[in-house]
Amino acid sequence: MYRKDRQSEPYTLRAKREGYPARSVYKLKELDRKFHLFKKGGKVLDLGAAPGSWLLYIAKEVGEKGFVLGVDTAPLKIETPFNASFLQKSVMEFKAQDALQYMGEYDAVVSDMAPATSGVNGLDAERSLKLSFRALEVAVDVLKSGATFVCKVLEGEGFPSFVNAVKRDFRTAKLAKPRATRKESSELYVIARGYEKRG
Ligand SMILES: C[S@@+](CC[C@H](N)C(=O)[O-])C[C@H]1O[C@@H](n2cnc3c(N)ncnc32)[C@H](O)[C@@H]1O
Repeated sequence: MYRKDRQSEPYTLRAKREGYPARSVYKLKELDRKFHLFKKGGKVLDLGAAPGSWLLYIAKEVGEKGFVLGVDTAPLKIETPFNASFLQKSVMEFKAQDALQYMGEYDAVVSDMAPATSGVNGLDAERSLKLSFRALEVAVDVLKSGATFVCKVLEGEGFPSFVNAVKRDFRTAKLAKPRATRKESSELYVIARGYEKRG
């Protein structure tokens, strides 16, 4: 019953109609409308890319001269666009060189990673936070100076420490909760601009 409800949700139906494999694309679209995240010719690393809605959207936004690299433990459920590549592996095993080998440093890293939910709130928040910190580590290794980082994070105990860590490496860090986020969800997105490369 619960599943059926989710499948008939307006955002899920709209995603199906518009050729996206997941409703999460509307969260990214909203963030992009507000923060202008992608530019033509841009290079973007998409962490937690499966089933592929964000990847499809970003590939369209960066255009034929741009590039998107998706990383996920799960496979994509779309045909990889011509200006994108996909690595099926955990971000925990991912090395900066895996991303840099394509065309050097990136203009943006986005992470929509989420752990498989256990149903235990504290545990899910802890796992999610670990993925967010790992996404930040990867971003610091692959971004150009001035670049953008967008990261999903669950509100929970460690959340302020993550935002503070982001602020150490980026000029600004804002929080946003897109309308397309499910009401019961405690997820937020950190939008960090102006990466300040050290050393
Ligand atoms: C909400 S989904 C992402 C949806 C995606 N942005 C889209 O629009 O299609 C979260 C993803 O995080 C991935 N994920 C979880 N742990 C991961 C890890 N350690 N490394 C890479 N991806 C991971 C999951 O496999 C899942 O596909």
